[in-house]
Amino acid sequence: MPAVDDTALSLPAVTAALLERLRVQLASGQPDWKDSGAPEAHIPVERYFSPEVWQAELQGLFRPLPLIAAHSSELAPGQVLAHDGFGVPLLLSRDTDGRVRCFLNVCRHRGMRLVQAADGAQPRNSVVCPYHGWTYRLDGQLRHMLHAESFDSCPKGARDLVPVPCAERHGLLWVVPDAGGSIDLEAFLGGLNAELPFFGIEQLRHFRTVEAEYPANWKLIIDAFLESYHIRVLHQDTIYPFFSDGFTSAARFGPHIHSLVARRAAQEWAADPGSEPPATIEGLSRLATTSQVIFPNTVTIFHPDYLSLITVYPTGAESLRWTHRILIPASKATPDWTPHWEKTFRLIEQGVFQKEDIHCAIGIQRGLKTGANRHVTAGRIEQGLAWFHDQVRQRTEPHLQNVGATVNAQASTPTTSTPKPESGVPL
Ligand code: FES
Ligand SMILES: [Fe+2]
Repeated sequence: MPAVDDTALSLPAVTAALLERLRVQLASGQPDWKDSGAPEAHIPVERYFSPEVWQAELQGLFRPLPLIAAHSSELAPGQVLAHDGFGVPLLLSRDTDGRVRCFLNVCRHRGMRLVQAADGAQPRNSVVCPYHGWTYRLDGQLRHMLHAESFDSCPKGARDLVPVPCAERHGLLWVVPDAGGSIDLEAFLGGLNAELPFFGIEQLRHFRTVEAEYPANWKLIIDAFLESYHIRVLHQDTIYPFFSDGFTSAARFGPHIHSLVARRAAQEWAADPGSEPPATIEGLSRLATTSQVIFPNTVTIFHPDYLSLITVYPTGAESLRWTHRILIPASKATPDWTPHWEKTFRLIEQGVFQKEDIHCAIGIQRGLKTGANRHVTAGRIEQGLAWFHDQVRQRTEPHLQNVGATVNAQASTPTTSTPKPESGVPL
């Protein structure tokens, strides 16, 4: 695996427990979902196309929560990077001491956009507005304005760039795209903070990003990465040969979901009572593919030798922006490896994600309003969907006060451990 080449660590506690759960499941042939007691869940179809739900999600999720804007390697010291992915024009900067800041990408004179996103990360000593030349330092301070004597109502500091909460952690740049918001990643990530370092995201290098818009609700993409039930059929000719059918173990850290999906190689390992748990990420990746949904809109997939970092954003109730970054080991970020990564990227982005997972999200969206289904059903084998939609519901409900009963009247996932397979859970 990419991150920690040749470095032996012990598995973090929850990941180790999940791997042990996989071993037990594989050795017994009895997947966890069979006796988990979790009922199937029913998600009202309106959740996937209602403009009111979309607006409530913007207010309850996409403005107040920390979102992942980029990998650390995308912004070098002395660079700036415009980011438009979250519906708010943002400008990230890293000063020569390495500190990352984020601002609204809006000039304090007459509001011109300062840096174009299409330009990518650029080395800058300062940011100069293309309209009248107001000039800002990378810490956001207004440094220079032409004909400054023309602006008498401008005390020092009053026209600095507007800061947006941001932080760098686990090799990722996080922002809260609301100038009035605040960020506390320690609290937000909770127990995930202890798991993530093992996966070494910080040591990876950005290779490529693909951005695209698709006519589907953003949650359909997250749904696709919350269950391994579909791998056997949808990915039959692509990735299924590497996986065991239906053996997954998952844990929740607050709203975040951390899961391991058993690979075929784990079968032999689990059958041998003397086999040790792996001590490295390379060893873990031979046995299981780790994936996380970092709430609300990021998916990590730790492939055997690289990381897919996927972010989705709702550009409308029925449209999303897909951003897929491939992050590779630093030791393989050299020109001679480029053809290998180009091919890898094509296979996973175009072959698996676009033709298979995204294709299904778009296919589902087209049928949601037909009346064929009042709910989307998630079986007990797809419990991650129930967890995720329950979190979304809880956080959007306060913003849905004026919406009709179908969308708004929901029940939470019961905490009982009594199996109730006959009764679905409306979410
Ligand atoms: S709008 Fe930026 S200097 Fe005028
Ligand atoms: Fe998939």
